[in-house]
Amino acid sequence: MRSEQDPLAGCRILVAISGSIAAVKLPALVSALAQRGAQLRCVLTPSAARLVSPVALASLSRAACHLDEDQWSHRAPRPLHVELAEWAELVLLAPLSATSLARWVQGSGDTLLSSTLLATEAPVLAAAAMNTAMWGAPGVRRNWDQLQAFERVLPLGPAAGLLACDRQGAGRMAEPQQLLLGLETLRLHGWRRDWQGRRLLVSAGPTREWLDPARCLTNPSSGRMGVMLAQAALLRGAEVDLVHGPLNLDPLLLEGLHVHPVESGAAMGQALEQLQPAADAVAMAAAVADHGRAAPELQKLSKQDLLASLSAGWCEVPDLLGQLVARRAAGQRILGFAAHSGDVLPQARAKLLRKGCDLLFANPIDQPQAGFGVNSNEGWLLGPGERELRIQSAGKFAVAHQLISALGALLDPLMLPAEAPREGLAGRRAAADP
Ligand SMILES: Cc1cc2nc3c(=O)[nH]c(=O)nc-3n(C[C@H](O)[C@H](O)[C@H](O)COP(=O)(O)O)c2cc1C
Repeated sequence: MRSEQDPLAGCRILVAISGSIAAVKLPALVSALAQRGAQLRCVLTPSAARLVSPVALASLSRAACHLDEDQWSHRAPRPLHVELAEWAELVLLAPLSATSLARWVQGSGDTLLSSTLLATEAPVLAAAAMNTAMWGAPGVRRNWDQLQAFERVLPLGPAAGLLACDRQGAGRMAEPQQLLLGLETLRLHGWRRDWQGRRLLVSAGPTREWLDPARCLTNPSSGRMGVMLAQAALLRGAEVDLVHGPLNLDPLLLEGLHVHPVESGAAMGQALEQLQPAADAVAMAAAVADHGRAAPELQKLSKQDLLASLSAGWCEVPDLLGQLVARRAAGQRILGFAAHSGDVLPQARAKLLRKGCDLLFANPIDQPQAGFGVNSNEGWLLGPGERELRIQSAGKFAVAHQLISALGALLDPLMLPAEAPREGLAGRRAAADP
């Protein structure tokens, strides 16, 4: 749906489709992009045009769909591949077949799609899809490896799953939800994988502390902020472990993450303890319940017994952020979260001092467009040396990229984004809150 905050609204996106069966997913994706206000044009290889309807794509993109024969029209004032290449602000190359990959890597322009790819200077999100054995073929592996060195390209390797050829294994095109996040990443951050070679541990979502088999203490966290952090780091090249409580969001958004589902605060603490040593950085975005039952009832309590039992029998859930900070190895960076109502800044400053993490993102939960269960967020990022950065209201994925940039800059000052510079946390005192 259209939103002024949407980084894809108004963006000129060229959707380039090659001959993989995954092309059948593109009409729905094109429709979703059109509904978000993106300007679209589609270009298909001859094989793609046999797998998915150019008429459907023209209708859903609200624009002519381009095929190889259009390249040779005597009515065109400019070569079509150059015109498309220069029109695009972003290229979504999905699915990318083995053949189109080979053409691209070899610099061959013998189709409209491949010559457009050679001619464009726009960033390209490329999502490979093919049969498992094809993906493992030495020639494909070599071409894919070579593609990693291409400038302006964000390559998304295929995921594992059941393929249309009935093979189980790597080959499935990345989910459309992740392709959308990939396009947003190109807009918000750029194509550089500045987290390549790093491992991030993220916690997300609420926890549940059971009172009896029918009732629990929890909170309205959907898990979106943590999952967006995880995806932002993943799309920037990191390996990401996600420890999450019960999520209230599309499970396809977990694509590509190493997921560790848990329920209680204690279980989340155990998972974090196990995974922490391998991480270069930790983002503790989960909304952990403060208290749980020392001994949850095994039988459902009656209404009256429930009320009576609420006054006693609670124990404090361990301070997971404090434990992470106490256990960390030298050089590991930790981002904490502080969700508060009222005046968040003084509470967050006190929490940062108390916990001793490197960064703390303080966000209000009593504003309509921030905090639990909404797609946007805002707040303050507090850092070392009393540095404070105002994070303006934006989609949670945009906020996530800012937090990942700040965390990355602490790991390595050279990791500041190159082509989408924003105000970094380093060396900056609080701007006046507008
Ligand atoms: C039903 C069908 C499904 C196919 N799926 C794939 C696929 O997922 N990935 C792939 O690389 N090739 C796939 N192919 C083979 C390609 O279409 C073929 O290699 C073609 O040369 C690709 O050319 P293009 O990149 O110009 O579209 C498929 C072919 C057919 C008939």
